[in-house]
Amino acid sequence: MIAFSLGRLEAPLLLLGLVGFIKAHAFVAPCRPRPRYESAARPLRRWAREHGADQSKSPIVEALSLAAARIKAPFFFPGHKMGRGLPVGLPGPFAETNTALNKTRVHRDDVWQHDLPEIPELDNLFAPEGPIRDAETLAAETFGGAQRTWFLVNGSTAGVLAALLALVRRHQQEGQQHPARSGRSIQSKVLLPRNVHKSAINGLILSGAVPVFLSPVYDPAWDICHGVPIESALQQALEEHASGSEVAAVLLVSPTYHGAVMDIEQAALLCAKFKVPLIVDEAHGAHLAFLEVEVNEPGNVGPLASRAMTGALAQGADLVVQSTHKTLTAVSQCAMMHAGKGPLVDSAMLEFVGSALQLVQSSSPNYVLLASLDGARWQLGSPLGGGRAALHRAQKLAAKAKRLLLEETPFPILKPPDRPKGGAFVGLDPLRLTVGTMGTGMSGFDADEVLIEEHGVYAELPASRTLTFAVGPGSEEEDIDCLVAAFKALATLVDKGKRDGSQDMAGEEASSFMTDFPPFDGKQAAAGSLKCGPRDAYFTASEVLSTNDERVVGRASAETVCPYPPGIPVLLPGEIITVEVLRFLKGVLSTGGSVTGCSDPSLGKIRVLCWEKEK
Ligand SMILES: Cc1ncc(COP(=O)(O)O)c(C=O)c1O
Repeated sequence: MIAFSLGRLEAPLLLLGLVGFIKAHAFVAPCRPRPRYESAARPLRRWAREHGADQSKSPIVEALSLAAARIKAPFFFPGHKMGRGLPVGLPGPFAETNTALNKTRVHRDDVWQHDLPEIPELDNLFAPEGPIRDAETLAAETFGGAQRTWFLVNGSTAGVLAALLALVRRHQQEGQQHPARSGRSIQSKVLLPRNVHKSAINGLILSGAVPVFLSPVYDPAWDICHGVPIESALQQALEEHASGSEVAAVLLVSPTYHGAVMDIEQAALLCAKFKVPLIVDEAHGAHLAFLEVEVNEPGNVGPLASRAMTGALAQGADLVVQSTHKTLTAVSQCAMMHAGKGPLVDSAMLEFVGSALQLVQSSSPNYVLLASLDGARWQLGSPLGGGRAALHRAQKLAAKAKRLLLEETPFPILKPPDRPKGGAFVGLDPLRLTVGTMGTGMSGFDADEVLIEEHGVYAELPASRTLTFAVGPGSEEEDIDCLVAAFKALATLVDKGKRDGSQDMAGEEASSFMTDFPPFDGKQAAAGSLKCGPRDAYFTASEVLSTNDERVVGRASAETVCPYPPGIPVLLPGEIITVEVLRFLKGVLSTGGSVTGCSDPSLGKIRVLCWEKEK
């Protein structure tokens, strides 16, 4: 797990910063070694006595520091034994000393010393009753008054998977108890937008639920999907499918990758009316509840936008999944799931979520990750944390970037909505900055390449006509200067290209194939485009064909085919392959994007179902 997160560019620096945080919060008093005969439960009971719901505490961070200082002879896993057995001669976090950013000198042992297993005083992620339980309780309070919060070490991916598994399990069990069913399984449907992250599709494969897709609002000018219109899509689908108690859950995504925030309160009220639990994939919105209320752009002010910006938990969602690592300061892979206080969130649901989390997470959760979740909560919850001020500063930086880009370059910026679009797009995350490349002759992918190669500026999400940048609590004034300077240089390049005709027209090509096939409008979401449910398709016999083979069109895909980022599948297992879909996917590759989830990422071949089951 740690190897994965260290693979990310920023992860070593985050880890080093985290170690600084752990050290700064360590109990300084030396501890006597724990006698060998002491009961494992005793440190946990002592912990519970000493720690109330005090936001200035950081229970996991403190317990980890204590444990690392106490251990003399580690005969537990991991085998590196608190850093002593690491390979020598490697750079980065493996180096004997590290002068990250020339600000801190951190000995490598500091990182690795805290990579400890679930020794008794460190509690147990799957049955927490000590520091993990305390840290989760503090987070439940900080993040908007959750009934229960779970720390996740496998990203929002784990949260989305577990939420779907838990709610489908509950739906099945309730349905089977109905006298008319007498134990026979029922069909569980999940209502969700077609443009969900692949974790939701994988949740359908694991749980066996059948999707009912809701068409999101699609903006062809930007080639971006927003949220789902509540009355025209969600309500209609609930009326059609929920009256016979077939619906196990509704899953909505807010904010989207581009920062479009939905009216979750209206959606939650509607779901409550139909007694269907609402999951909100708020992977991109862990920071929302802590932003300055007076978000200064025109479409973002007003009661609707202000309410939407408070986050899904405050608006009545039942299960909310947040990637703490995306918009706050936890290390990659760290996320949280919060359970709301609505009437549908009962003890069975909480139990099923806890048990589903054990299905999708490692039995050896990394304590550096858990401590980083605790640290991110402390930063926002403790009066000394400074996290809210950092977010407000980030808001100002993002606003400055937008202003300068509009004033000094020809590139358009995605604006907050001028009207709420049926609740699908009622506000725009002020920390998400989407710049358009349309009309420049460059695709977003081309522009991304120039920004990286020539300016060292890395976007979060390049796409056909846009580049999306994430400003965060760690952003600095110089980053914004760099971004604006890079776009000014890009504008000069575009001008020159237009003058001498050397600018290739990849961007225009991208535009034409995109508008031919907006992937998530009504066409693809229409009933009938799925030959069978994703789980059936996943387990059905399949064969590999060349994508040029004429037999491919009209067959059902056996795999998830997914441009990454954003990780939104264009083909699902069981979904019919059309000429337009193939053209779209090949267009993504030809404009510099990449495609994941399939057996051949170059799309020369594709795996299709041999048999087509009825839906
Ligand atoms: C909307 C959405 N949901 C869920 C996820 C999964 O999040 P994580 O990377 O934390 O597993 C992502 C990742 O990009 C996402 O964009």
